[in-house]
Amino acid sequence: MNITVIGLGYIGLPTACLLAQAEHTVYGYDVNAKKIASLQQGKAPFEERGIQTLLQDVQKRGNFTVGTTLKKSDVFLIAVPTPDVNHKADLKFVFQAIDAITPLVEDGTLVIIESTIAPRTSVDEIFPRLATVGKKILLAHCPERAIPGNTLEEMVKNDRIVGGATQEAAKRTAKLYASFVQGNIYQTDITTAECCKVMENTFRDVNIALANEFCKISEEVGINVWEAITLANKHPRVHIHQPGPGVGGHCIPVDPWFFVGISKQAELIHTARNVNDGMPAYVVKNLMQYVRKHKIKNPVIGILGVSYKKNVDDARETPASAIIEALRKEKLSFLVHDPYVKAFSTLLSPLNEVLAKADALLLITDHDEYAKLVLPKRSPVKFIYDTRNVLPHTFNVPVYTLGNAKNI
Ligand SMILES: NC(=O)c1ccc[n+]([C@@H]2O[C@H](COP(=O)([O-])OP(=O)(O)OC[C@H]3O[C@@H](n4cnc5c(N)ncnc54)[C@H](O)[C@@H]3O)[C@@H](O)[C@H]2O)c1
Repeated sequence: MNITVIGLGYIGLPTACLLAQAEHTVYGYDVNAKKIASLQQGKAPFEERGIQTLLQDVQKRGNFTVGTTLKKSDVFLIAVPTPDVNHKADLKFVFQAIDAITPLVEDGTLVIIESTIAPRTSVDEIFPRLATVGKKILLAHCPERAIPGNTLEEMVKNDRIVGGATQEAAKRTAKLYASFVQGNIYQTDITTAECCKVMENTFRDVNIALANEFCKISEEVGINVWEAITLANKHPRVHIHQPGPGVGGHCIPVDPWFFVGISKQAELIHTARNVNDGMPAYVVKNLMQYVRKHKIKNPVIGILGVSYKKNVDDARETPASAIIEALRKEKLSFLVHDPYVKAFSTLLSPLNEVLAKADALLLITDHDEYAKLVLPKRSPVKFIYDTRNVLPHTFNVPVYTLGNAKNI
């Protein structure tokens, strides 16, 4: 089958490669000419386990080509960004993609939206836009659940939900995904599929907000939240999430707003978003207390980790950005290190430079590398603030842990 994947990012590129591996003829289209040029040379534009080898393999077999012009295709699979703008999913890129394929669709063309969209977007906005050409188009939504760092494996092994505007659209989409997905594929209507994706990320956001609230309460009542959560989770029906310096990434801090944007009922969801968005300021408030406690004048803060989760190079929506902004407001100097992230809004420094110059360390991301952290002899570091509970307390300076009032 001829498949065109529109948008070759973290989701579109692995999906295209897996479809090509399953012997479909796949064409990858992206508006970013630089990305296409690099892909044409067999270079994946981001780090992801296995993607480089798979890309070169499917290109060598002739199953995957890329370009910046669109042509006719049996299937158009859309995986363009849907960023949060003023707490609503910005559909600009989806509409651009729909408008670009409109002259190319025919009766029976299957259009699959993989981009995350707010409930009812397909029925109220995408379908009417496609319908203007007067062709019998099959429209489906197949939300993505893969995690950065393990995307390829999860795309194959995870269960998938396929929502069709019609049963025929759901059936044809499910058959297509079955060519590379080993998990179960569940068929439903298109609005239910949209809701499932947003519900999944909202569930995680609300639960993280609860853990963050427990974290703040624990500091007030003088306990260690990490110990309390571990013990509470011994209950067979309790699974409390982990607190942290805020929620990042492309999905969890973004998707819950799609519910807030469309429904007045989303009060708990809205509150959870505010709790999680408030964590960077809470971290900086605590950090300032430790700076005062150690009587450090004009401190240089060494920031360890800016990616939104461990061991990946993805810094989208990272809470590190809000923390750095708050440090700037406090007029604090800082040096920033991350072993994975290559480009960030703030200059990145080598770890040895950070450890040699910083008066205090603030660990934001729990990269494995930091668990083995060693301070150099005669280090200026007076204390470490660990927001992820990963550092041992064996340094010759105090380690304060977010949510642990026992070692403050
Ligand atoms: N990254 C994830 O972990 C993840 C997980 C689940 C769902 N999603 C959703 O999948 C969608 C894509 O996310 P992503 O992380 O792959 O985004 P991304 O930013 O990595 O990639 C998107 C690509 O689309 C291209 N693009 C933008 N407009 C285009 C257009 N009109 N025509 C062709 N190409 C265009 C961009 O140049 C870019 O290469 C989003 O809706 C996101 O919410 C992402």
